[in-house]
Amino acid sequence: MDLGLAEKTVAVMAASKGLGKATALAFAMEGATVYISSRQEAELHKTRDEIISATNNKDVHAITCDVSDEGAITSFFTQVAEKSGGVDILINNVGGPAPGGFNDVQDSDWLSAFEKNLLSYIRTSRAVLPYMKERQFGRIVNISSSSTKEVIDGLILSNTFRAGMVGFAKTLAREVAADNILVNTVGPGRISTDRMTELNAENAKKQGISAEEMLGRSIAQIPAGRLGTPDEFAQIIVFLASPANAYLTGQSLVVDGGLLKAL
Ligand SMILES: NC(=O)c1ccc[n+]([C@@H]2O[C@H](COP(=O)([O-])OP(=O)(O)OC[C@H]3O[C@@H](n4cnc5c(N)ncnc54)[C@H](OP(=O)(O)O)[C@@H]3O)[C@@H](O)[C@H]2O)c1
Repeated sequence: MDLGLAEKTVAVMAASKGLGKATALAFAMEGATVYISSRQEAELHKTRDEIISATNNKDVHAITCDVSDEGAITSFFTQVAEKSGGVDILINNVGGPAPGGFNDVQDSDWLSAFEKNLLSYIRTSRAVLPYMKERQFGRIVNISSSSTKEVIDGLILSNTFRAGMVGFAKTLAREVAADNILVNTVGPGRISTDRMTELNAENAKKQGISAEEMLGRSIAQIPAGRLGTPDEFAQIIVFLASPANAYLTGQSLVVDGGLLKAL
């Protein structure tokens, strides 16, 4: 199936590793022009080089950007516009907020999680929409979490702001659908990345068991019987963000191997 991505310019935020990196790689494989960003320059450049050598697509570019920083977002999209005209497809992503329950987090944590995990997606969307409207084509896919469907104990910041993100995305989707701009949200269940390893280690510590045992218990809850791979997650994003998806918008999906029981 030709996804029609060869002529498209894609920005994947927070893409030096994990889900963002796998998503950027999958777009590069489809022949798109891909811009990746994250905070640490050396790691980001290494990822760009890896993607170029794995896909033979030389149109993969790295520009550092801390998405918590409005000025950095403006600078990132200005540079992309100068080089490629604008962004047809935006993949919003950022590292997860600090773990903790209600008594573990202060106002400063709430404010920084808002800026990092919700306001960043709003600001990046604002940056790309004028070009998408002018072209009468655009796709925005927001990476979220399964916590948008079923809250996860001990992750109050994630549970709160990702729910806000879904409300934002649904509303925006309805406002821009007539301009052929589709906005969707995709949440990972348990996908094998550094973030998943860190959360697993943290939960193991809390429960006084080994990380291996914790992982075994976690996998036992997944009907598919294993963690997902970043590439399996990325393939869903690439389809939703491609011209091949012409009518699905405003949706919030989870890619979880059957983990969630919520309808
Ligand atoms: N993996 C899962 O199963 C899972 C499950 C539920 C939710 N999620 C969520 O999905 C998202 C991606 O997860 P992941 O597993 O891929 O995480 P990861 O492996 O920890 O990767 C996070 C990426 O985000 C970048 N990043 C972090 N903060 C940033 C910032 N302020 N500005 C720009 N880039 C930033 C990191 O690079 P730098 O540090 O260099 O910036 C890195 O490239 C996270 O929000 C996570 O909470 C993942």
